[in-house]
Amino acid sequence: MRTLCAKHLDTLGDRREIDASADYAQFISPGVIATMLGFPEKDEDLFRDFVHLVLNLVDLLPEVRGAMFLPMAEYFDAQIEDHLQNPRDDFTSYLLNVEVGGQKLAPEHVRGTMVLTLIAGIDTTWSAIGSAIWHLAQNPDDLARLVNEPDLMPVAVEEFLRFYAPVTMARMVKEDMDFYGCPMKKDDWVLLGFPAANRDPEVFEDADKFVIDRSINRHAAFGLGIHRCVGSNLARMELRVAIEEFIARYPRFELSDPGAVTWAPGQVRGPRAIPLRVLATN
Ligand code: HEM
Repeated sequence: MRTLCAKHLDTLGDRREIDASADYAQFISPGVIATMLGFPEKDEDLFRDFVHLVLNLVDLLPEVRGAMFLPMAEYFDAQIEDHLQNPRDDFTSYLLNVEVGGQKLAPEHVRGTMVLTLIAGIDTTWSAIGSAIWHLAQNPDDLARLVNEPDLMPVAVEEFLRFYAPVTMARMVKEDMDFYGCPMKKDDWVLLGFPAANRDPEVFEDADKFVIDRSINRHAAFGLGIHRCVGSNLARMELRVAIEEFIARYPRFELSDPGAVTWAPGQVRGPRAIPLRVLATN
């Protein structure tokens, strides 16, 4: 993680105007997932194109978008084939070898899990890193505390997750029911407002206030129940290291054009453009 972050920070050289999302945050989680799945480093750009396709072009018609998925499916199949021929120490080889109930997973199950890892593990974390940097750009006191009190980072990470919870998921109703006075019909879609739950005044003191050293923080940014995020500790580590490396390089920065900040549409929310002016470097 640290090498990956440093590599992308190095490419920014001594620029004083940067985009913390397009130039930094968006590279971190794809790099982690590609490494985890065991994709060759030379495929980095290709992999990022897939990520862009899957995660950013959600507004296209399903038929148009479906066809665009083919190259990614072919790429994943080629990776599976290569891993079958040359097993190595990565998640793809693990999935190909693991046994569930005495049986190996079918190749389409392996491919499905690779796609899920990509969808669940990339723009979620990139959004969380982006929101944290966006926050720090506007709250110099919080930035100064993190720079001067590095031990605060794990607690701050939880508050970034609570306050800017990037993920809203959905469920389909199985049968007609009355949920605490709210009628629901079979096949209705219901959004699970994890970000709203994180601002519940009955659970959090000053729920609408970002408190960087909030000590009691049982937030729901990673969901609740059996589908709770399986990657939560990886995400926490990515968030912590990505911010640590960023503020170690840039201990002071501010938004250079607040109006130019853009946010992702859809169920995963995070800034996609964060124009910054660097005020101090190390
Ligand atoms: C800040 C980053 C992340 C956030 C906020 C987040 C949030 C969530 C949430 C809210 C769910 C629950 C979905 C539901 O109830 O339907 C979930 C599920 C999941 N997440 Fe994450 N996630 C993050 C990062 C990651 C990473 C890095 C990975 C893996 C590399 C990952 C893998 C998954 C998977 C596989 C599931 C599905 C679990 C299941 O259905 O049993 N997530 N995530």
